[in-house]
Amino acid sequence: MKNDLRQKLHLEPKKGWLNDPNGLSFFGGAYRVYFQYSPDSPYGDGDKCWGYFEGRDLLDWKYMGAVIRPDIREDINGVYSGSGLVRGDKLYLFYTGNVKEDGDYDYITCGRGANVILVTTTDGRHMSGKRVLLRNSDYPEYCSCHVRDPKVWEENGSYRMVLGARTLEDKGCVLFYRSDDLLDWHFEKSVGKDDLGYMWECPDVIRLGGRRFLSISPQGLPHGMYSHQNVYSAGYFAFDGEVPREFEEWDYGFDFYAPQSFTAPDGRTLLIGWMGIGDIPYKNPTAELGWQHCLTIPRELSVGKNGRIIQRPFRELGRLKKEPPVSIAQGENVTAKLPFCFASAACEDSFSLRLSDAVELRTENGVFSLKFPDERAGGGRDIRRVKIGECRSLEVIADMTSLEIFINGGEKVMSTRFYPDETALTVAADGITGIIHELAEMRVMTDENG
Ligand code: FRU
Repeated sequence: MKNDLRQKLHLEPKKGWLNDPNGLSFFGGAYRVYFQYSPDSPYGDGDKCWGYFEGRDLLDWKYMGAVIRPDIREDINGVYSGSGLVRGDKLYLFYTGNVKEDGDYDYITCGRGANVILVTTTDGRHMSGKRVLLRNSDYPEYCSCHVRDPKVWEENGSYRMVLGARTLEDKGCVLFYRSDDLLDWHFEKSVGKDDLGYMWECPDVIRLGGRRFLSISPQGLPHGMYSHQNVYSAGYFAFDGEVPREFEEWDYGFDFYAPQSFTAPDGRTLLIGWMGIGDIPYKNPTAELGWQHCLTIPRELSVGKNGRIIQRPFRELGRLKKEPPVSIAQGENVTAKLPFCFASAACEDSFSLRLSDAVELRTENGVFSLKFPDERAGGGRDIRRVKIGECRSLEVIADMTSLEIFINGGEKVMSTRFYPDETALTVAADGITGIIHELAEMRVMTDENG
């Protein structure tokens, strides 16, 4: 069957453009997933709003279109990224109101307003009036006008906020603020690191397994063969509150940026990213059909033995598995219909797994690679690599137009969009064995605004 390019396991808008996940939360018995949304253009032009999905669980969603729009002076050029905090019977949503003044400005050091704005909601969808909490004058004087993406949490009886920023010396940093009432915020400190880009977007402080991590999406890192291969990066540091340590990338594929964490009602820390990046040199053919980009599946986070974060596909996905599975023996070809998951715990030092002629996954000399043999299925994507040492296990979640690849139990992850013509793929294993489960699709109902 011809692939209509609509995802079956991933949240994506019916039309327009999606970028960062925003306001992720569980509130009033439902998951709340907001996202950066340009309803009028698959290329991200026009009004930048917050779009909204509400989930009864992580497999059963309602899509409600744009629920916060730019309509006051302080957010007139975009309702930019932010986060959610549940307090009593309200969800507090904090975002950046973007303002571009008319005139001859560079919009980096002048001409831009970056306001932290609060709205509250009792149903996730209808918002209170907007209240401006912080303006440019509230940020340290060494910051440029690029200060944005508030992430708010509660700690020891008070509230904390981090904001991503670019200094006037073109260094990325994170600003820390504190409040006792969620309205009045005081600057505490900024945290940066030399040689890690000119701007840090979408910061997040993740408390996990008794430790603390600082996640950022830095821009302006030099590209390497095995690191920072994309135009912009996303990763985290182990973080004691003062000094960010070694930077670890969240994902080594072509399409991952601006992730945000939140806590599920059962205590799991889940991470969702934008399965896309700004200013990419490759293409997504869905844009010609009227929409572009999706979110990643939720990933369950834990801390591994080496102190790094392990990412695993959310366990609810297992409920979509169709029985019986199909085994692939060494050297065998099997046909599988998208969406499906492939799992292997048995691979040789060198192996390859090909999905039709669309894409090849390979391990050789301790390096795992994700390669598109030709332009077409990858929309111009070529190759991404990650050093993994030995491959002990591999799990691939293949949706209609994306792959998420979890290596060694989620020690390393690679995400990419891919665009096979057909919905049935030939999976060819060489030096690896595994099992394939085809997957049912999750439910996404669209209401009249979607
Ligand atoms: C990250 C980002 C954020 C900003 C938003 C605007 O992709 O640039 O820093 O708030 O997108 O859509």
